[in-house]
Amino acid sequence: IKTPIVILNFKTYLESSGENALNLAKDLESAAIESGITMAAAPQATDIFRITQETDVPILAQHIDPINPGGHTGSNLIDCMIESGINGTLLNHSEKRMKLSNIDEVIKLSKERDVFSVVCTNNIETSVAAATLNPEFVAVEPPELIGSGIPVSQAEPEIVEGTVSKVKKINKKTEVLCGAGISTGDDMRAALDLGASGVLLASGIILADNPKEALINLVSKI
Ligand code: G3P
Repeated sequence: IKTPIVILNFKTYLESSGENALNLAKDLESAAIESGITMAAAPQATDIFRITQETDVPILAQHIDPINPGGHTGSNLIDCMIESGINGTLLNHSEKRMKLSNIDEVIKLSKERDVFSVVCTNNIETSVAAATLNPEFVAVEPPELIGSGIPVSQAEPEIVEGTVSKVKKINKKTEVLCGAGISTGDDMRAALDLGASGVLLASGIILADNPKEALINLVSKI
């Protein structure tokens, strides 16, 4: 995966669900082509297939359960997600926390199937724990800044810098992303200057009047 990368988490906003999810994915695709920057989408499970039918946007599942095929009602099975078209998985988001042992299991399932993993963490210490599991990315997001409009890269730079330096000591191959409150070109520039390989974001783009313009603005200072 080429970095810097922008990962847009569609969460469960109506503005990024159903038909709107498809339109947002198309905006993401055209912003990526225009800017030359890698942009991936993490839509709800129900929207993955429709997006892969109409765009070439790289897709992440918002969550995968640590299960094999069989009796697991209500779970997200990685094999079906892959058949729907995912290229990667978001794990342990602050809004969908997982046990460390389960994160480990899903990272292993992902590696066996050649899809990448982005493990979300809430601080430097959990980033260190996540890095020992060898995911392709660790994405640090202080929960109190999620959805706040206050960018982590400018309000709490020490969390991003600290995560980068500790993660790299454990595992040089794992790349660090940051998220929470990111929306502008300055926010993304600050993230890259702190050593991050990209950003994970949601509301600043999803709720913007013109999401495509907001995406172009986000990557304008790279
Ligand atoms: O996964 C990204 C997210 O939690 C950050 O949300 O709305 O602050 O960009 P937001």
